[in-house]
Amino acid sequence: MEIITDKERDAFYKVLYNRRDTRSEFESTSIPEEILKRVLNAAHHAPSVGFMQPWDFVIVQDKKKKEKIKQAFEKSNNEATSLFEGDKQALYKTLKLEGILEAPIGIVVTCDKSRSGPVVLGRTVNKEMDAYSTVCAVQNLWLAARSENLGVGWVSIIDHSVLNKILNIPENILPVAYLCIGYVSHFHERPQLEKVGWLPRIPIEELIHYDEWDNKDLTI
Ligand SMILES: Cc1cc2nc3c(=O)[nH]c(=O)nc-3n(C[C@H](O)[C@H](O)[C@H](O)COP(=O)(O)O)c2cc1C
Repeated sequence: MEIITDKERDAFYKVLYNRRDTRSEFESTSIPEEILKRVLNAAHHAPSVGFMQPWDFVIVQDKKKKEKIKQAFEKSNNEATSLFEGDKQALYKTLKLEGILEAPIGIVVTCDKSRSGPVVLGRTVNKEMDAYSTVCAVQNLWLAARSENLGVGWVSIIDHSVLNKILNIPENILPVAYLCIGYVSHFHERPQLEKVGWLPRIPIEELIHYDEWDNKDLTI
């Protein structure tokens, strides 16, 4: 097994801490095929329960399809707006939560629960492990993209059944993520939701428990 040098470790953390969700900064420049393949292959090397590799990647390039997806977003986003009240709703309305038309391509990362038969090593007691595996692929993709200076934005405010219809994805295939991907004018230093005061980043100390849920003091 190869040892990671200090310089390589620093590069990894640089990519990780500089990854951002991208919505407003997309440029129309297309992504060279070789680079897109590297990013997709990085996603394909994510861990997966029982090594079932439940993912597929649907590349969305067609303008008409993107327009339909944007309409689906608008519908769900209008519905979402009414779930927030007062100042929160006013702030919600100002947020740009997708870059569907601006990004040169969209990528739908899907999960096929039947990929390696009904009984999957590791997915016996907790059935959702296949979806979690797919999310690992999304994160690999996101980090690999950042290392290529590509921005990625996850758009979750789209009805999955509508997305399946638009892209002719079979009903039994779960679309886990709609990702907008492309080169960007710049990357923000902090999450946009943190910057506009939607929510702060929680101090890490508040999230670490020792031996029991109620024990947050390190007592060894
Ligand atoms: C599962 C998931 C769904 C998300 N859905 C949306 C979305 O629909 N629209 C959006 O603008 N951002 C979405 N995001 C991005 C988050 O808002 C973002 O990751 C978070 O605010 C932290 O910012 P950062 O990714 O730039 O660090 C999503 C992120 C995840 C992990």
